[in-house]
Amino acid sequence: MNGMRRLGIDVGGTGVKGNVVDTETGELLADRVRIETPHPATPEAVADTVAAVVETHGYDGPVGITLPSVVKAGIAHTAANIDPTWPGTDAVTLFGERLGRLPDAQRSGAGPSRPVFVLNDADAAGLAEVRFGAGAGRRGVVCMLTIGTGIGSALFLDGRLLPSSEFGHLQVDGHDAESRASAAAREREELSWPKWAKRFSRYLQVLEDLVWPDLFILGGGVSKKPDKWLPLLEARTEIVVAQLQNQAGIVGAAMAAAEDTSP
Ligand code: BGC
Repeated sequence: MNGMRRLGIDVGGTGVKGNVVDTETGELLADRVRIETPHPATPEAVADTVAAVVETHGYDGPVGITLPSVVKAGIAHTAANIDPTWPGTDAVTLFGERLGRLPDAQRSGAGPSRPVFVLNDADAAGLAEVRFGAGAGRRGVVCMLTIGTGIGSALFLDGRLLPSSEFGHLQVDGHDAESRASAAAREREELSWPKWAKRFSRYLQVLEDLVWPDLFILGGGVSKKPDKWLPLLEARTEIVVAQLQNQAGIVGAAMAAAEDTSP
């Protein structure tokens, strides 16, 4: 499977970003394409935006796509921070058919339905970090957390993903964790870094009492300025900052597409 190229697309709250990735090395092979997320971000509207990203790349192979939702067997099940019409949507069929209708796919014979793999955004980011980033070569239980509008999680044992952990929704002191400890909560409540770090530490402590990870990898927008908060965190588990930053979702999505279509 040397040098397998796949297009990975990360569907976020503000942007839909895609790039072609060498899934053996994690290297990005083209210029990243970013299109604003449509509002409302209904399944049909997001599928059109994803199609526009694919078309801009002029790419006709299998595509990996992230969603900020639990995805099992291609079906989106939750919608904490996306349009409420997503749960129950067969995302694999939706994207597969939409991308199969693109002229490139028709010409290459990839239509009418293109192979797509859809997975949770944090699971995708975790796959990339554990393989190519801050968790590379780490064994044991690794817990990746993405800190943004919500809190996403991805749990690994010896590099293998246990999909669909939703640790952002742990109850911490009677509150849904992400409603108080996400980056959005910090901005909404105008918390200083020390105040937010205290809240986030409390969250990590609840989580580590339940899961006992060997390593936390912290990613998302806040990973761009770790000096502000990393030294303030208190937890017994080793903590490292994600390395691939906002490319992690794209790389992980492409990796998932490569795995899914391997013989
Ligand atoms: C969702 C997760 C998602 C995370 C980050 C949470 O609110 O429940 O599925 O991974 O946000 O986007």
